[in-house]
Amino acid sequence: MNVLVVHGPNLNLLGTREPGIYGSLTLNRIDEEISALAEELGCSVSFFQSNSEGMIIDAIQQACGACDGILINPAAYTHTSVAIRDALSAVALPVVEVHLSNIHRREEFRHHSFIAPVAVGQIAGFGADSYLLGLRALFTYIKKEIV
Ligand code: DQA
Repeated sequence: MNVLVVHGPNLNLLGTREPGIYGSLTLNRIDEEISALAEELGCSVSFFQSNSEGMIIDAIQQACGACDGILINPAAYTHTSVAIRDALSAVALPVVEVHLSNIHRREEFRHHSFIAPVAVGQIAGFGADSYLLGLRALFTYIKKEIV
């Protein structure tokens, strides 16, 4: 099983970016934790981070035929991007949306996600653990789908 992990804009700054909200782990550390869990589960993961909407769309399109599912933190594009949502719909792979912070208890503009309706589910508010919970959820979902 192959899972593509997509990190959206400004997540490359994790570690120094608003640590009170997003925690102090760097993106590399989070990717290492995801890799360790993936190994435990017996699934392979590849990582993609971009600050550009178009590059994220290209990565999602390239996952078609190459991956079994997508774990995505679309970051600010969660709240703005019809184009990323359309790309996810187009490739028709199972998607789990994750957020470090609980977007539902933050500013009102973060409450709406364009991505949630095309995702299997959303996990938000557990810091870096959101990715780990999300990977477990996606892995379990794909395994059930395959059987
Ligand atoms: C975020 C939440 C978004 O609202 C924000 O724009 C981000 C990060 C999170 O992981 O908590 O950049 O997706």
